[in-house]
Amino acid sequence: MTIRINDKIKKRLQRIALLSLAAFIVGACIALLELHAQTTRLTNGDAPVPVAGMAIESRFTLTDHTGQAVTQDTYKGQNTLIYFGFTYCPAICPTELRKISEVMDLLPTDVSKNVQPLFITVDPERDTVPVMAGYVSLFHSKMIGLTGTMDQITDTKNAFKVFARKAEDPDLSDYTMDHSSYIYFMDEHGALKGMYRIKDTAAYIARDIERIVGSMNAVP
Ligand code: NI
Repeated sequence: MTIRINDKIKKRLQRIALLSLAAFIVGACIALLELHAQTTRLTNGDAPVPVAGMAIESRFTLTDHTGQAVTQDTYKGQNTLIYFGFTYCPAICPTELRKISEVMDLLPTDVSKNVQPLFITVDPERDTVPVMAGYVSLFHSKMIGLTGTMDQITDTKNAFKVFARKAEDPDLSDYTMDHSSYIYFMDEHGALKGMYRIKDTAAYIARDIERIVGSMNAVP
């Protein structure tokens, strides 16, 4: 009797194993197809984001990752490459920050010496000064992390037209953040000159920045 029950359970377990294997294969195929669709889109050579007339300006009062109070004027005379995100972000933020680091290394030194990369948090509750210091140290040596009070971050998000909001994830014990993902290239006067999307590669961004800086220098 016991043996028969065990057999039954065994068969059921085998069926479950087979079904989950089938489900896994179907899932893997869908994931591959999606990935493929994404790479296809990536190679479609889209036009740059039109930035002319976009009411985005570099205006902020924040604290850098060493605890110094800063404003947009702290970086006067420098072009800035700015990204908004949060240190708990599992995928997009670290990928984009690595991309910015790559852009910095791809740019010729005479261009990169005038580019300051900035990472501004949209999650000031968790991204305190020491958290930001630890996080930016994982990326480019020139990268500066900026945090602030809730109000300061809200004002900064508004100036850059950044969307970000807390999202409760029922699968996680802690909250996450939904946020827009653009890399902003601002000139030394805080005017928007370039805006890059997740699909734009480091090589593309570096080329575009070189072009922008070249045309700025060409102006008499
Ligand atoms: Ni993120």
